[in-house]
This record gives sequence, structure tokens and C-alpha cells, in this order.
Amino acid sequence: MVNENNPGSFGSSRGLSKKPKKDKTRKSSSTRWIGRQLNDPYVLETQKRGYKSRAAFKLLQINEKYKFLHQGLTVVDLGCAPGGWLQIASQEVGSIGGKETVVGVDLLPTDDIAGCISILGDISEKSIGDKLINILGCKPNIVLSDMAANTTGHRKTDHIRTTYLVETALDFAIENLEKNGVFLAKCFKGGAEIESLSLMRKYFTKVNHIKPDASRKESVEGYVIALGFKGI
Ligand SMILES: C[S@@+](CC[C@H](N)C(=O)[O-])C[C@H]1O[C@@H](n2cnc3c(N)ncnc32)[C@H](O)[C@@H]1O
Repeated sequence: MVNENNPGSFGSSRGLSKKPKKDKTRKSSSTRWIGRQLNDPYVLETQKRGYKSRAAFKLLQINEKYKFLHQGLTVVDLGCAPGGWLQIASQEVGSIGGKETVVGVDLLPTDDIAGCISILGDISEKSIGDKLINILGCKPNIVLSDMAANTTGHRKTDHIRTTYLVETALDFAIENLEKNGVFLAKCFKGGAEIESLSLMRKYFTKVNHIKPDASRKESVEGYVIALGFKGI
């Protein structure tokens, strides 16, 4: 059941214990993944609410804590496919005079989401960042990045790739954010790298790490939120 005050929380799912059907041709890692999906209350709730992804709950929960998404604000979402964060952002900020106030980009196609415009592209290319700002028509108040690189299983390589994406998103945020804006990015569980953190502390008044409940305990992901952009 949806909790109206905390839409990122819902009734308990205790007692659930579904097992994947036996299939000898399947790898054991796939069987474990299916088992997790079957017993994950967020997966069920994602389907019930019609969210494009389970990740929607992460943004809902982070926003419940920091309350930074408000009506009338503009948002850029980096790594937006399939569109769960776009749905939450658009629901929270609404539109101004019928114009979309949430724009996103991804390497992969994103589903159509009411109130949002998404483009295909790689945010590490400057022209793609410029295109997002052109579409929005103003500086964003909020830059979100849930970008993730394909994992290789090699911890150090994955860490380096994630770090690069955080740096890319942060550069975009510093170049484009409206004063007093907010930057939220997925990073490695150990936290953002020292260099990115010191940039965030230089340009924002408050920087915190957060691991929302919807982020699986065993996952190496975490988030960093930087509030109160001071401008360049
Ligand atoms: C975890 S998914 C995002 C889920 C999304 N927040 C949602 O709620 O549906 C991460 C996305 O980052 C995208 N991505 C990774 N590197 C990127 C890049 N350089 N430019 C744009 N998107 C990127 C991936 O293609 C992937 O779709």
C-alpha cells in the first residue's frame, strides 16, 4: 500500500518466498537474479505503479529525505533510460505553461514519458550537453545522474568507469546549473572520489552521501547529493 506522505515507502512484503522454476540450462548467477526479482517488493511495486524502472524508488526516497524536487523547477537527467527517474522528476516539478521542464539523455532509447523530453546521446560529448540546455531553454535547477557503465566484474575497472561518469556529470552540473541548484549522482559505495568531492565542496554549500533503502544492500552503488550551488 502507498504511504501518501512517503511515496517511496509501502506495506511490508514479509512472508514472500518465491523460488525460480528449475532449469538446468540456466547459469546459477541467472537463477539467483531471478530469485531476487521474484522476492523483491520494489519490483512488484514498480509494476503496480507503472514505473519504468525499480530505480524510481531510489529517487523518491532520496527526495523524501532532502525534499529538493519542487513545482516549477527544471531538471536535467543524465542516463535517463528507461525513464523511472524522469517519471518521478516530472511528477514532482510539473510543467510551466505546458512546456516540458524535465529533459534527459541516454546512450539507449528512453520510453516516452509525459512532461519530459529525452534524447539519444553520450553526455561526455559537449555537443550533447549543449543540446540538452537548448531544449530546456534555461539553466536547470537540478542535475541528476543515475549513469552506470556496463560492469565488467573487475572491481577496479568498474570503479574507474563509475568515477569517470560522476566526473562527467559534475562538470556538466558546474557549467550549467542555476544558482542554488542541486546535483545528485550515483557513485561507488565507498563514496565519490576525493577530487570530485573537493570540487563539490568548493561549488556547493552542502555535500552528503546517501544509500536509499531501494538500493540493494549487496550493490556497490551509493549516491552523492550536493545542495546549494554557489555559481562559478
Ligand atoms: C541505471 S540506468 C538509469 C536508470 C534510470 N535512472 C531510470 O530510473 O530508469 C543507467 C543508464 O546510464 C546510461 N549511461 C551510461 N553512460 C552514459 C553516457 N556516457 N551518456 C548517457 N547515458 C549513459 C546507460 O545507458 C543506462 O541506461
